Amino acid sequence: MKDHIIKQTEEFVRHELSEDSTGHDWYHVDRVRRNALHICKEEQAGDPFIVEMAALLHDIPDEKINESIEKGEQKLENFLQSISLTAGEKSQIKQIISTISFKGGNFAKLESIEAEIVQDADRLDAIGAIGIARAFAYGGKKGQPIYNPEIKVREGMTLEEYRKGKSTSIHHFYEKLLKLKDLLNTDSAKKMARSKQQMMQLFLNQFFQEWNGK
Ligand code: ADP
Ligand code: NI
Repeated sequence: MKDHIIKQTEEFVRHELSEDSTGHDWYHVDRVRRNALHICKEEQAGDPFIVEMAALLHDIPDEKINESIEKGEQKLENFLQSISLTAGEKSQIKQIISTISFKGGNFAKLESIEAEIVQDADRLDAIGAIGIARAFAYGGKKGQPIYNPEIKVREGMTLEEYRKGKSTSIHHFYEKLLKLKDLLNTDSAKKMARSKQQMMQLFLNQFFQEWNGK
């Protein structure tokens, strides 16, 4: 039964995200799901079914891939109505998805261990070698420069500034990606973040050496 629901959800998400090139494609979702289940096992905490469902669906209502926030939420709602879940499971899944996004650092307090796990898994996919690739993919799609030394690094942004402000992909490391390791909830995720952090630091050091012609 649960296996069947997971399969249905995979199919739905694959279909919905197949066209995305902002770093929210199916393979991102699949990595987040696998990271989340790994953390769940390591921590021996959280309901693995809820964790897996929330991980699979976490980008479905995202405003970036929908015409509006309302349309995105409706899409998630319609799907949840179409599968065989209890009212409790549905509300747990929706609750997790609505609270985990970074959105410029103005984050809501998480209500469950499942939400902490899925948020950690999503954040782990934004750092390391994959995180580097995603930042430049996103930057290219948005038409932002790789780097521009004349632009200042922004602190304490509103959601509007985070999404719309002028920035570069290299700035994004200082505005968000390098900070994520200290925002992780679980010890397992913190452990997984160590080598990813080193990877980003090594990359940035080399980037600036080359930028400066050394
Ligand atoms: P979230 O949904 O977790 O708030 P985003 O949707 O903003 O995160 O980001 C999705 C991916 O795109 C992440 O890997 C993130 O680092 C990257 N990204 C987001 N904003 C920028 C930006 N301004 N420049 C470069 N990469 C970005
Ligand atoms: Ni995501």
